[in-house]
This record gives sequence, C-alpha cells and structure tokens, in this order.
Amino acid sequence: MRLQLCTWAEVEDRLKHSTGIIVPIGSTEQHGPNGLIGTDALTAELIAQGIGEAVDALVAPTIAVGMAQHHMAFTGSMTLRPSTLIAVVRDTVQSLARHGFDRIYFLNGHGGNIATVSAAFSEIYAEASLAGAGANRAALRCKLKNWYETPGIKALSKELYGDSEGGHATPSEVAVTQFAFPEAIKKVEMEPKIAPRGPILDAEDYRRRFPDGRIGSDPSLATPEAGKRLYEVAVKDLIEDYREFLKAA
Ligand code: NI
Repeated sequence: MRLQLCTWAEVEDRLKHSTGIIVPIGSTEQHGPNGLIGTDALTAELIAQGIGEAVDALVAPTIAVGMAQHHMAFTGSMTLRPSTLIAVVRDTVQSLARHGFDRIYFLNGHGGNIATVSAAFSEIYAEASLAGAGANRAALRCKLKNWYETPGIKALSKELYGDSEGGHATPSEVAVTQFAFPEAIKKVEMEPKIAPRGPILDAEDYRRRFPDGRIGSDPSLATPEAGKRLYEVAVKDLIEDYREFLKAA
C-alpha cells in the first residue's frame, strides 16, 4: 500500500501491526541510447510496490533524484551532492521514526547511491550511539538493498544477456522499464554492439570514455517480456529479504 494513498488514521492503525516501511530510492540520469532517464527510480518504485502488494507493506514516496554527478555531462541528468542526499535520507528516516516506524527498508535502483546512503545510515545511528543509554525501545534499523543484485536477478540476467549485461544502462534494467512503460520503448541500434568497460573519473571523463552513456552493455537486447520475468524474480527474492529484515532483533 502506498503511504500517499493512506489517511493518517490508517497509518496509525497499521503501525499497531507493523513498524516496517519500504522507501524506494533511485536516480534521474542518462541510461544510454534507449534507456529512460528515470530508469533507476522507476524500477525501484515498481518493484517496491510489487513487494508492498505481496506482503501488505507500506511504501513511502520514492526518492527519485540520487547521487549521479558522474552522469552530469549527459543532458537531462540530475544529481544531489552527497551532503544533500545524506540530509534527505536522514530527514526521511527521522520523519518516519517520529511516528514509530523502526524498520526502514531502502530499495535501491542506483549503484551511485550506495556510498552516500550508507554514510547517511551511519549519521542516523550516530545520534543514538553518541547519546548514550536510555531509550527503552527497539533500535531503529535501516537497510539498503539493491534490487538488481538479488541471487535470482543475477542468475536470470546472466541467462538472458550473459556478457551483454554490462555495468550501466543494462538490458535488465531497461527491460524492467519496458515492461512497466511499454509506451516509452525506444528502438535504437547500438554502435558498438557492446559498449566498452573501464573506470570513470568525473562527468566529463565519463562522456569522453563512454560517448553514448553505456558501460559494458547492449541494452538493445531488452524486451518487455524479459522485463516481466525480471520484475517477478526481483519481487519474489525481495519479499523474503524484507521479511527477514522485519524479524531482525
Ligand atoms: Ni541504472
């Protein structure tokens, strides 16, 4: 159930039964020649809502702009600097914790968020760690989970795409958006077929090395049918992970 579609009284009632909530987090950044700029936010939101429906969990509004400064040489990309994203994550968690949510599960669609969101969790925990003993309630727990790295997703993307999966603008993530938004599918020939791989230093360096935005991938292989399979596998794997997280003492 989306938090945005509840009344405050319904949220208060739900908290009597579960203090967990899922927060989708993604990015608004270039995803190569046929990938949507919203890919990382759209996939995280879609999969979070799938988990929410399957286990009757609350899903908070998506944090749709992430830490994507290395994509900024590509038009349409947006970023929060790390300090801003830390503040956004911290205020998000503390808003929810104010009401009694104490298991906050961030479902992530963007690798560039990992370091910053992990630092945000450390900032949140620091308040309790540095405050000393006293609070007579279960500790606030946050978890960051990347949907694109579950065992089922890794196996299925390997089966579907092998070496063409790559590292950015992957056929798997593009396929999930094609399943969710078939009206936005773009047909583009890739040249070269599989994009090069390598390190990135900053935004300008990224565009110099990877001129069409892809890294190591061939997203022209994406299909909405594969996207449906990937979506279903992700939801199945993540239901288990979310349940385990709620149980964590
Ligand atoms: Ni992505």
